[in-house]
Amino acid sequence: MSKKISDVTWKQFQKLPLIEKTPYLMQSDGAPYHTLFAQQFGFGLLEQLALLANEIRAIAKTRAGTEFLRAQATHKRAMLYFSQPSSRTFLSFMSACQILGVPTGEVRDTSISSEFKGESREDSVRTFSSYFDLIIMRTPEKGLAEHMAWVLSNSDRPIPIINAGSGQDQHPTQALLDIYTLLRSFEHKGGLRDRTVLFCGDLLRGRTVRSLSYLLTNYPNIKQVFVAPEPLQVGEDVLAVLTAKNVAFERTDDFRAAIPLADAVYMTRIQDEWDTDKGESAKIDTSRFKFGLEELGLLPQRSIIMHPLPRRDEIATDVDSDPRAMYWRQMRNGMWIRTALIAMTFGCEKRIHDYYRQNY
Ligand code: CP
Repeated sequence: MSKKISDVTWKQFQKLPLIEKTPYLMQSDGAPYHTLFAQQFGFGLLEQLALLANEIRAIAKTRAGTEFLRAQATHKRAMLYFSQPSSRTFLSFMSACQILGVPTGEVRDTSISSEFKGESREDSVRTFSSYFDLIIMRTPEKGLAEHMAWVLSNSDRPIPIINAGSGQDQHPTQALLDIYTLLRSFEHKGGLRDRTVLFCGDLLRGRTVRSLSYLLTNYPNIKQVFVAPEPLQVGEDVLAVLTAKNVAFERTDDFRAAIPLADAVYMTRIQDEWDTDKGESAKIDTSRFKFGLEELGLLPQRSIIMHPLPRRDEIATDVDSDPRAMYWRQMRNGMWIRTALIAMTFGCEKRIHDYYRQNY
């Protein structure tokens, strides 16, 4: 059931637990309106998104299908507001908009927008809402996308916001593409259930880990193993969610012992852009938390290797040609699942399902 976000003050909304915020972010048919955090996606919605993404990628294989998709949302415009660096998320969202015929605008460098003149983020976002019908935003600040969603929903130009990464906190659409990759990888191997997912690297500051860990709780009997040097181990907030949901988990610093038991190894890079004291990450010994040919030899044949990317040296390039290396396909999956998300946000999914049924 959806609720009107304009019925609550910012302070009331801010104080709600994430799960209680969810009805304020959804449309009456259950599709997302604002996409702000992983907790708003349950099993049913994840299945719907994956199905829609599969149909879109099949339709896009032909010229006629591409033209059909490109006619879906020509009456909508999207703003890509990325005040933090990005390659994949920015480009895949831009491509997703192009697939659906949605023209885009962008601000990637706030030193050449009016923020440089002292304009507040609130005023900037309200300005974008005057010209666009959707804002896709990446920011270094936790909670900013949420606040902007509330601000816009209480303005005379209420338009949806998609969080494309908010500080160290959440990266919900990365988690959607990660789940989509897991679903596709295990589709003909018993599905996404009764699996062990191993997270390795900077688990403390990696927002993709927090979002994916939560989404995995929607699937039965998925054990989560967190492998990191102690200073970078996963936060208590993530573990509290797993405990409350009765999900099995383990923390360890023994990467090699954990690899043979993993169905998916999810590598992450050291997020030293968040260092408070310059160079503190460099003092941590991360040498045992890298995936090379020796680690590949320990990985079962059924298993896959994932990475949200960008990588540095935590996965050796020698591993790239192994069929279990899923990270390049994972990245492309992002374009399709983000297209599905935008299609749902703009209410295009029924037309796409109908076209798919009639033509495939
Ligand atoms: N995975 C990810 O968010 O990559 P970018 O920072 O390149 O967008």
